[in-house]
Amino acid sequence: MSAPNKSYDPVEVEALKPEEIERRRDEALAAFAAAADLDALREAKAAHMGDRSPLALANREIGALPPQAKAEAGKRVGMARGAVNKALAARQAELEAERDARVLVEEAVDVTLPHDRIPAGARHPLTTLCERIEDVFVAMGYEVAEGPEVEAEWFNFDALNFEPDHPARAMQDTFFVEGRQGKDESGIVLRTHTSPVQVRSMLDREPPVYVVCPGRVYRTDELDATHTPVFHQVELLAIDEGLTMADLKGTIEHMVRSLFGEGLTTRLRPNYFPFTEPSAELDMECYVCRGESVGNPERPCRTCSSEGWIELGGCGMVNPRVLIAAGIDPEKYSGFAFGFGIERMLMFRHNVEDMRDMVEGDVRFTRPFGMEI
Ligand code: DAH
Repeated sequence: MSAPNKSYDPVEVEALKPEEIERRRDEALAAFAAAADLDALREAKAAHMGDRSPLALANREIGALPPQAKAEAGKRVGMARGAVNKALAARQAELEAERDARVLVEEAVDVTLPHDRIPAGARHPLTTLCERIEDVFVAMGYEVAEGPEVEAEWFNFDALNFEPDHPARAMQDTFFVEGRQGKDESGIVLRTHTSPVQVRSMLDREPPVYVVCPGRVYRTDELDATHTPVFHQVELLAIDEGLTMADLKGTIEHMVRSLFGEGLTTRLRPNYFPFTEPSAELDMECYVCRGESVGNPERPCRTCSSEGWIELGGCGMVNPRVLIAAGIDPEKYSGFAFGFGIERMLMFRHNVEDMRDMVEGDVRFTRPFGMEI
């Protein structure tokens, strides 16, 4: 066994010289202090504290020293590494705090910013008005009924007692999809009114029948301020025992009051429709001036053109011929019907002056009506 190397001079090991160790330590401290962010600090750590860093290499040299020198060098290197570790931890904490503070600012969410990047659309006022009307009748026990827009000529005209040569069938009013093939065949049209749903509803049900039928209808009109080739109607049909014109008038009056205001009245003016007998035009009292503009040039009314009345639509007692076409016994049952245009109602209810605004689909027209559901 060889004796310990008492004469070994640690100063001779370059890497373990006190100045050298201090220099390495100071270099490491300076590098950590200079690291501007966590990435730079990670690199500095690898360079000054990693396995191949000068202080780690120096540490490895210690093993070869004699005991006395080993203890001294160990202490020196240990202290240097301790100081470096401490400085690293401190700088790490500092840079992490800086990063967290920066992230809080940079990634802050402004909760006051609008959250919906795709602006909400709006329900079309024709839809909401239709639904409102349906609600009035559903509350009275009516059922909502619908029919096809592409309709058999038989439902649109024949069953409703239109004579074969009735002018409404002519090409200028009706969009024909398919002409009549044979004498007894029905052609196909785009329905010109919602009245065919009356016939369909009667065929589908046993009386009593109480239906409200909203829907789109078509006529060969040019689009202008007061016409559109596609528009909406609501049809009303009641079939029961003992119904009279008084029931019709009371029912419509209830609708008018629900939609336009308490106490409003209605009036009937004789008219002709092939599917009702007697038939009438139904007017409602002007809900804006309530008649006060009539003969009063000081207070003209735009809504009713100072007439005091607003024309609503056509109505009457269902013609017995229509009841028969729909398989209902006119000796036992009677009924009333009413049909009116929704575009027109929207115009006088909301002062819409140009019908084209209703078909263009511009959300700037639709939005002010609100999102009533
Ligand atoms: N269908 C008719 C039209 O479009 C309106 C109408 C009139 C409907 C009288 C009815 C009614 O139910 O009884 O001009």
